[in-house]
Amino acid sequence: MELFDLTGKVALITGGSRGIGRAIAERMAEHGAKVVISSRKADACEVVADGIKKAGGDALVIPCNIARRAEVEALVSGTIKHYGKIDILVCNAAVNPYYGPLLDITDEAFDKIMGSNVKSNIWLSALAIPQMAERGKGSVIIISSIGGLRGSTVIGAYGISKAADFALCRSLAGEWGPKGVRVNCIAPGFIKTPMTDALNDKQREAILAKVPAARLGTPEDIAAAAVYLASNESAYVTGQTIHVNGGMAMI
Ligand code: NAI
Repeated sequence: MELFDLTGKVALITGGSRGIGRAIAERMAEHGAKVVISSRKADACEVVADGIKKAGGDALVIPCNIARRAEVEALVSGTIKHYGKIDILVCNAAVNPYYGPLLDITDEAFDKIMGSNVKSNIWLSALAIPQMAERGKGSVIIISSIGGLRGSTVIGAYGISKAADFALCRSLAGEWGPKGVRVNCIAPGFIKTPMTDALNDKQREAILAKVPAARLGTPEDIAAAAVYLASNESAYVTGQTIHVNGGMAMI
């Protein structure tokens, strides 16, 4: 028996051009899924899709800004037109345009964070889940964050949006579980991506002091959890959050 086999499944991943989304797309393709790579710029997605195709996989690029409803609709309909269905939806893209005291945030920045990190996940779910339910099977994976579990003096609004994703996941799991659709979150800790490359040595050391695994995570650490949640091996797991953070949240 092949564990974590995704052969024949179609996976739609937002923010797939780099970082965690890219690793998820590449690992899912290695496990047999046909993958849709999406971010705002087509050329960045094409690089990822070309690599997957060269390795023998099947990938399609559909650019989409997750903050724009019409583009999200075109992403889902374009995927279904090309591949006939969506079995796995990975809501990975997210934004954080504001660093600073929570009470100083502008309405515009707050709405942008909530729109891209929460409302777009509802759009994507509303468009993709019903066709999963028709086949009695599907997996939705929302990439949340350790920021949704803990307070922050600089990224408070981002944390609010990521905490909202936990609640969104639990409610959707309850609503769609009886129809065979599972909805789960992954909450990454500090992962080595362009975002964390911006940390200075002092900040990095302060973070590592709180990580029992004594290293930053990698996009592949997150992709491994995503492959599990997409596969039949997690058939009895829904409404949950898998914390992939090297043990950081426990101390
Ligand atoms: P990244 O910045 O490396 O990649 C983000 C991806 O999303 C890129 O493909 C980018 O083009 C795309 N994207 C950004 N805004 C978009 C928009 N409006 N529409 C469509 N695509 C858009 O980010 P990273 O680190 O890979 O983050 C991925 C997810 O993991 C996010 O949900 C983030 O909040 C979460 N996360 C990341 C952590 C980290 O340490 N890197 C920690 C905890 C959570």
